[in-house]
Amino acid sequence: MFDLTGKVALVTGGASGIGLAISKTFAKQGAHVHILELNIDLANQVAADIKSEGGSAEAHAIDISKQADVINVIDEIAEKATINILVNNAGIAHVGKADNTAETDFDRVINVNVKGVYNCLFATIPHLKKAGGGVILNMASIAATVGIPDRFAYSTAKGAVFSMTLSVARDYLADGIRCNSVSPARVHTPFVDGFISKNYPGQEAEMFEKLSKTQPIGRMAKPAEIGALALYLCSDEASFITGCDYLIDGGFEKLNN
Ligand SMILES: NC(=O)c1ccc[n+]([C@@H]2O[C@H](COP(=O)([O-])OP(=O)(O)OC[C@H]3O[C@@H](n4cnc5c(N)ncnc54)[C@H](O)[C@@H]3O)[C@@H](O)[C@H]2O)c1
Repeated sequence: MFDLTGKVALVTGGASGIGLAISKTFAKQGAHVHILELNIDLANQVAADIKSEGGSAEAHAIDISKQADVINVIDEIAEKATINILVNNAGIAHVGKADNTAETDFDRVINVNVKGVYNCLFATIPHLKKAGGGVILNMASIAATVGIPDRFAYSTAKGAVFSMTLSVARDYLADGIRCNSVSPARVHTPFVDGFISKNYPGQEAEMFEKLSKTQPIGRMAKPAEIGALALYLCSDEASFITGCDYLIDGGFEKLNN
């Protein structure tokens, strides 16, 4: 079950947090993992770690918001191998409401979290079609479907990821491409530590506690827990699943009342 031997997977933002867990889980299950990362030093380190643990991985420098770069990197990978799986995981955070989110911040979040996903879809789907099919998994968030305080730009972007998943799942049914998304509540990663220290300096421990308790289960998720769901959805065992968003939220959406 959940064997990815012989599969080639692209994981954007695959060197940190949730992406790191996905890269490691997929490699452990036999996939050759291409880590597409802005932080190439970290990505090289992760690829080396995976190899030292007996897995197979390569790192590629990429900024997913730049379409020409994305096409170059993905075409180069596709020249050497058949791509089977794309995980659109890379994303950035932003705290703010509609009337205090600066235009530059809004553009930055949309460029990475929405246009970045589109760029990777644009560059990868022709290769999946040529290969006769494949799997796409997009990292959405509970912010796509619930009103989270102070996350205007981020929620806007994740709502778009949620809709892009449906659109892509629909458009490529006949090409054998499955497309789903995952919507985590808070996951303890550098992303969360980064926005707590940036936005709540001096109140880090208090904010961490508060954010942990917003999940009825009483804690944040561990990245490996998201990695396990990603593995299932990208494996052949999930062959009947497409056009779905999967909550992985410690009860956040259904039990917070
Ligand atoms: N951590 C959470 O609580 C949480 C909850 C729900 C959804 N998510 C989503 O999960 C995804 C991963 O989050 P994380 O917490 O692991 O974050 P993280 O900051 O730990 O890792 C994100 C990785 O993406 C890379 N990246 C950022 N911008 C990039 C770009 N333009 N091009 C290529 N790579 C880029 C970073 O270098 C980093 O390694 C994001 O899409 C995030 O929105 C996170």
